[in-house]
Amino acid sequence: MPRQAYVNGRYRPHDDAVVHIEDRGYQFADGVYEVVPVHNGILVDEDLHLDRLDRSLRELRIGAPMSRAALKLISRELMRRNALTNGFLYMQVTRGVAPRDHKFPNGAKPAVVMTTRQMKPHSDKVLSEGLKVITVPDQRWDRCDIKSVSLLPNVLGKQAAVDAGAYEAWQVDRDGMVTEGTSTNAWIVTGDNRVVTRQATHAILNGITRVSLLHLIRNEGYELEERAFSVEEAKSAKEAFLTSSTSFVLPITQIDGQPVGNGHPGILTGKLRQHYIDYVRSLKRSA
Ligand code: PDD
Repeated sequence: MPRQAYVNGRYRPHDDAVVHIEDRGYQFADGVYEVVPVHNGILVDEDLHLDRLDRSLRELRIGAPMSRAALKLISRELMRRNALTNGFLYMQVTRGVAPRDHKFPNGAKPAVVMTTRQMKPHSDKVLSEGLKVITVPDQRWDRCDIKSVSLLPNVLGKQAAVDAGAYEAWQVDRDGMVTEGTSTNAWIVTGDNRVVTRQATHAILNGITRVSLLHLIRNEGYELEERAFSVEEAKSAKEAFLTSSTSFVLPITQIDGQPVGNGHPGILTGKLRQHYIDYVRSLKRSA
């Protein structure tokens, strides 16, 4: 069976799945999304993702498109149709279809799209060599905590990284402090083994991988600081890494062409990655 997508009440072949030209997501980026990782057929931290989806919708005053139970049912049906074992589920909710006009439309129904994608595990090369990041000015708005589909600065930042031969761009605020990557959260480890990541305010997306890893770090008793760190501090850190639903925990070994620590993936980073993978493997299927 060809890969399928869910679009507003229907399962369609992925290649023919389309939305209306006046979907407000298309015209105004007036919508939100989630990327839920799937490991061995299990949706990782599904309820945390759905909580964040609810929050994003609430903050933008977009109505819930359906009950959580219905969203879960559709997710599972799409995964079943696509025989998804490892990869992710993408869900997007926009304010709906209406004649183009900036103000909220009356009576538009939120539009829902879901897709899945199978993904291979990260290569041994990435894990043994680590990733390069560059730094770019953070050009985004003041509500980066909302997982909006409005991602133009993120797109431009990621392309700048690719153009520079790097994997990710760390965005830097006006005070010279790192906010986050374009699609990942940013972390460093200090010389005295303190794990540092920016506190979750409106300046960053509170990543679900971030939240789960923070729990694991606290449970394992590692030293932790949720605070902003500068580009200079990151460049002289002992280790650096990033987290996201599609990356889990990946080591960073270069920032703006400068090696981080000894230039090899950090030991603590490796341990944290393993704790996170053990956590994901321990998850049980839920209804
Ligand atoms: N990106 N910061 C930003 C700006 C992000 O877009 C993401 C996720 C994260 C990490 O969040 P999480 O751990 O919940 O995936 C941080 C997704 C994967 C994306 O846009 O593809």
